[in-house]
Amino acid sequence: MSTVKLNAAKSAAKLVPTTGALGLGSGSTVTFFAKELGKIVSTRNADIRVVPSSYQAYQLAIEHRIPLTNLDIDPILELTVDGADEVDKDLNLTKGGGGALLQEKVVASASKKVVIIVDESKLVDRLATRFEIPVEVLPFSLGVVKRKIAEMGILPKIREAQKKMGPVVTDNGNFILDLKFPEPITNPAKVAIDLKMIPGVVETGLFIGMTDEVHVGTEKGSYILKK
Ligand code: 5RP
Repeated sequence: MSTVKLNAAKSAAKLVPTTGALGLGSGSTVTFFAKELGKIVSTRNADIRVVPSSYQAYQLAIEHRIPLTNLDIDPILELTVDGADEVDKDLNLTKGGGGALLQEKVVASASKKVVIIVDESKLVDRLATRFEIPVEVLPFSLGVVKRKIAEMGILPKIREAQKKMGPVVTDNGNFILDLKFPEPITNPAKVAIDLKMIPGVVETGLFIGMTDEVHVGTEKGSYILKK
């Protein structure tokens, strides 16, 4: 699996410009990309800086000596490279497996180009086929948000922390609900809007129409899916 992730990351690294601000996504595949980016910064003497999409991404940037910036200094990003949990035929995504969906979406929205790096297991016909849809929720609103989601016929499950008692608390101090749909989603854009309309839902892990390219790593190399 690490070869596959590395191949996806290397493919995306070819798109890194010589200068500019980039978004750095989160997840295990992005760790391979961050390493490649670190090499580019040191060897090509590229004038690159990144907005990290999570504490994990922040630590990766530090580890690989990639200069940091933020969205106040750089509100327009040349490129964001991030992972995904599912990718459908229209390149819509489910993200948030690592709980970083809110900042990931903000960073993607600031980017001229969004490139997603995955392995083939992430490719599905319809979202919510294998992976539940995460939503980030304001803790104060948890009870009412759960009730409203259940009324939509969707099963909400609070994400429990590992090695800590109680719920996962995101980088933004919120909770995550993982939503189990009765069947894969046919209209993800509508579902994203319906969920986002619930007061207390801070953001959803449905990334609709945001992806420009998906770089799919394989054991032997990689290939690119485009809109
Ligand atoms: C974190 C994410 C990740 O990008 C997503 O979970 C994919 O991670 P991985 O590359 O480890 O499979 O959205 O919130």
